[in-house]
Amino acid sequence: MSGWPESVEIGEVGPRDGLQNEATVPIGDRVRLIDALSATGLRRIEAVSFVSPAAIPPMSGAGEVMAGITRVPGVAYRALVPNVKGAELALAAAVDEIEVVVSASETHNQRNVKRSVADSIAAAAKLTELAHGAGTPVEAIVSTAFGCPYEGDVPEARVAELAHQLRDAGADRLSFGDTTGMASPRRVQTLLDALAAVGISASEVGLHFHNTRGTGLANVVVAMELGVTRFDASIGGLGGCPYAPGATGNIVTEDLVHMLEDMGVHTGVDLDALIACAHVAQDIVGRELPGQVMRSGPRTRTVETQA
Ligand code: COA
Ligand code: ZN
Repeated sequence: MSGWPESVEIGEVGPRDGLQNEATVPIGDRVRLIDALSATGLRRIEAVSFVSPAAIPPMSGAGEVMAGITRVPGVAYRALVPNVKGAELALAAAVDEIEVVVSASETHNQRNVKRSVADSIAAAAKLTELAHGAGTPVEAIVSTAFGCPYEGDVPEARVAELAHQLRDAGADRLSFGDTTGMASPRRVQTLLDALAAVGISASEVGLHFHNTRGTGLANVVVAMELGVTRFDASIGGLGGCPYAPGATGNIVTEDLVHMLEDMGVHTGVDLDALIACAHVAQDIVGRELPGQVMRSGPRTRTVETQA
């Protein structure tokens, strides 16, 4: 089949984007999950965020988590930060990569990080300089890139303009978050068109989908056909707030790997090891996760016939 890449890179975000929605998770469990994920072939793991403990209590102790994990060579352990202070803490913890997040919508940015988009871009520029001084790369993530829960649709041209500014601020990589699962294949196409119009090609962007409305894997297939080769996902589909009806996690890492490998798109990730991790994640949160392949098994799994 033409139009699908030979390989893609999957960024695991369960330990941060997933677990940040839980009540407090013990440091030991966070370390256990990250260590299990490190043995699957994943090359990028969003391990922690350095944010205000008052804003996101379950992510407190990020430094302890980073000190507790066993780093596997070749795996980049990443931290999300909202401001310069977060970057300083992340660098002190020797993370391999910093992710700075800016929302495409003013209201979401205010709610998330209590400042204007312009101020967040200024902070991104400052912390990128700081990170580069320490030899640490920075990925800028534009969240609510496919729509905002407070403002509705966000014009693609605005997302593209913001991405352009973040690149000018020194970001090494750009990624676009569908924070509340508002993307569909059509919107993937229109956003990629808008990015191309400002000189950002599909081959250089990462996409971060949530499966809130069931469109996640369809979005991935269309994005690949348009040239994207970098996707985030969370193990077992961790994520979503138990107190917010309808909120769900990212697309599911093992379901994504299962689909891609059958399409001949290499991920470099061991599916059985991932399924084992999904069970670890389920054990940690103490409830059933939305991942499907962890329950059904791979498509070639056969059932014993009754004698
Ligand atoms: N890490 C740890 N602590 C931080 C911090 C960081 N990155 N940034 C600020 N703080 C601390 C300050 O030291 C201060 O502590 P103190 O009260 O003990 O003096 C306190 O948080 C308030 O600092 P302030 O700069 O006034 O922050 P704020 O209250 O305006 O909140 C953010 C702004 C950005 C720190 C906060 O909204 C935040 O952390 N948001 C992250 C949200 C998030 O992770 N969302 C999900 C991912 S997209
Ligand atoms: Zn997310």
